[in-house]
Amino acid sequence: MYMSMRNLTLLASSIVIVTNLGAAKLNYTPANPDKYPYPSTAKDKQGNTTNVDGAKIRKNVITVKEVYKSQISGKNHNFGVPATKATLKAWNTDVRPDGKGLPNGKMTVEEGAKVFSAKCATCHGDFGEGVDRFPVLAGGIGTLKLHPKTGGDPGPLKTIGSYAPYIAPFFWYIQTAMPLSAPKSLSNSQVYGILGYLLQLNEIQVNGKDIEDDTVIDRKFIKSVHLPNEKGFEYNNLRKPDTHNTRCMKNCIDPSKMTIMHIKTDATQVKPPFGDGRYSFNDAKKKESAGEIGKTIYENTCAGCHDSGIAGAPKFGDKADWAHVREENLKDVFNHAINGFNAMPPKGGDMSLKDEDVKSTVKYMLEKSK
Ligand code: HEC
Ligand code: HEC
Repeated sequence: MYMSMRNLTLLASSIVIVTNLGAAKLNYTPANPDKYPYPSTAKDKQGNTTNVDGAKIRKNVITVKEVYKSQISGKNHNFGVPATKATLKAWNTDVRPDGKGLPNGKMTVEEGAKVFSAKCATCHGDFGEGVDRFPVLAGGIGTLKLHPKTGGDPGPLKTIGSYAPYIAPFFWYIQTAMPLSAPKSLSNSQVYGILGYLLQLNEIQVNGKDIEDDTVIDRKFIKSVHLPNEKGFEYNNLRKPDTHNTRCMKNCIDPSKMTIMHIKTDATQVKPPFGDGRYSFNDAKKKESAGEIGKTIYENTCAGCHDSGIAGAPKFGDKADWAHVREENLKDVFNHAINGFNAMPPKGGDMSLKDEDVKSTVKYMLEKSK
């Protein structure tokens, strides 16, 4: 989440052209990680300004307008149109770790809790505890060092309180991506209220004080928040590899003979339907011959909502819940499952599923709910 946010920040907030070419020389002077907010630019040894991740900012800045006018080539190609200020503004919605980009708006924590309860609790729980297999948003402070294999079950709980370095980018994330079924539907003030409630649930203190129900959350407040794991990330050695494997040059394993057993995306503790669910197709393929494809996909991708009836999903096995679906034309039902329908996400959120397989899953669900 953070890497991609930073890359987006790069794109959205500047119309300068940056280049990564200088990076290979390893002449990048690290940003000071103890300085908060950490600077978004640094100087390399030649005194050139670089971005935090080492990308060089070119001295001769070329604006979008100039590219349009093709001043570089001297010819007038006349393709595209220059982005207007309004276009850039609509596009430039990112919020940086230091709070740059936070919009106007404010709400108390108490009101924010009400919004959370109405719009988020079906999946994340009233207190951020996570319903079923949806992400947990609160608690877990101190669990980062746990590992299930060494007895520290269930392993790290990655929440705002335990894991995230900065709160401000959550503004952007929540407004852009949540609630899952209606992204971009929250007002700026509602997002501030929700952030306040999430901070309160995570027992974050601000300037040594607890966050109270009547605390007003706005840009200034968010900028004054420091999360417990703020220093837990390294920003100054992004050029340093995580592993020191050397590339195999002779007698190497033939990649076509390798099997990828499992790829784990544990940036959040999301389990199926959304995290591991994306690999359900492979699992499903294995069981295809046994005629169990519907069951496997259901369990991996659909059960998260349909087992318990989250957000109004017809409950698996509940005859009455499925009665109205049965009255529809089967083609429409397939269409709803494949392309989405109200709070039902297209293909249950796993776009790697084939249409045919989604249909098999719908048939399985209908079969088991009559
Ligand atoms: C229908 C279920 C659903 C609803 C409703 C919902 N979310 Fe989410 N939320 C998810 C899922 C699934 C993810 C994981 C997405 C991913 O990792 O790509 C998620 C991720 C998040 C995360 C990031 C968690 C992390 O560990 O990275 C935050 C923060 C969040 N949601 C906040 C909210 C807020 C605030 C609302 C209400 C305005 C909301 N969500 C409503 C399903 C939901
Ligand atoms: C994020 C939660 C969620 C997930 C995951 C999910 N569903 Fe749904 N589903 C819903 C909701 C909510 C509805 C009710 C929509 C409505 O009637 O407004 C629904 C409705 C349906 C319906 C009835 C559609 C109709 O015509 O009334 C079918 C069929 C269905 N889902 C199939 C699936 C399948 C297949 C999967 C997995 C591949 C899946 N769902 C995963 C939330 C979910």
